[in-house]
Amino acid sequence: MHDDEVAVWVSNAAKAFKAAKDLDQLKSARLAHAGDKSPLALASRGLGALSPDEKARFGKIVGDAKAAIASALASVTTELEAARDSKILLEEIVDVTLPSNRLHRGGLHPISIMMNEISDFFIEQGFTVEEGPEMESGWLNFDALNMPADHPARTVQDTFFLEPVESGIVLRTQTSPVQIRTMLTSQPPIYIISPGRTFRADELDATHSPVFHQVEGLVIDREITMAHLKGTLDHFAQAMFGPDVTTRLRPSFFPFTEPSAEVDVFFNNRWIEWGGCGMVNPKVLTTCGIDIEIYSGFAFGMGIERTLMVRHGLTDMHDIVEGDLRFTRQFGVGL
Ligand code: DAH
Repeated sequence: MHDDEVAVWVSNAAKAFKAAKDLDQLKSARLAHAGDKSPLALASRGLGALSPDEKARFGKIVGDAKAAIASALASVTTELEAARDSKILLEEIVDVTLPSNRLHRGGLHPISIMMNEISDFFIEQGFTVEEGPEMESGWLNFDALNMPADHPARTVQDTFFLEPVESGIVLRTQTSPVQIRTMLTSQPPIYIISPGRTFRADELDATHSPVFHQVEGLVIDREITMAHLKGTLDHFAQAMFGPDVTTRLRPSFFPFTEPSAEVDVFFNNRWIEWGGCGMVNPKVLTTCGIDIEIYSGFAFGMGIERTLMVRHGLTDMHDIVEGDLRFTRQFGVGL
């Protein structure tokens, strides 16, 4: 073993490391020039057989050579790792501007989203949400609401009658029968709303649909006045249309309320008809077994389609019923 020989091993190793094009090639070079079977390892193992003097001298040469090889290896490793990392970064670049063909999740219809929003608002005020059937008895849909047999809403033009007609079953024309159902089955105090689907024999056009939605409100308690009705409507209108909105009541007529009023909201600088309301007619309370000496109440009813159309400036009912995703997606998925 000569000193020069060791110098050659070191320079061979350094050359081999430099020649490696990637970490795999570097690994082979490392095994050949710095592994267990490399000339340097063999020389290192042979040190034991040398005389103490030679061992000291040659041991230092071998030690220095090992250090030189290790440092050559380390610097090439750093270079090749950096090269590998930047290659991976390039390969894994994602072009976020490319169009995707992601599948869209289903979503709630804007009408459902709005009914949920209304329910949330009233639940916060302590109301409960009641539902009634869409196939309703004529007695609950009309008679109990003080709509006599000759009331125009009962004629065939407005109401879908179910066969056999003698059954008296109709598709409910309003959510008001849920008021009756609630008063017949529970005791005051009553604070409910009832959003749901309603039906009338209308042609589908820009402002009508034979299937539509309403939300009914009913409050029965001691000492309920029209002031409570007005306050409730104001808050409801603000929740629907924005914090600055006000409502006004215009005298009107509904058989189940006395007095009755139309509710208008002042939205986008004009008064817009929103729904109907009033103090529950004592005749209706009496029919439902509620003591009118103790209790009074108010009720209101709004169209959900109308509320949605006014709030979002929609002009065509077709958009609401046709289910075109380009329309519905603008309202979010609401899940
Ligand atoms: N049911 C009425 C309709 O469909 C709306 C309505 C008006 C409901 C006044 C009410 C009310 O509860 O008090 O036109």
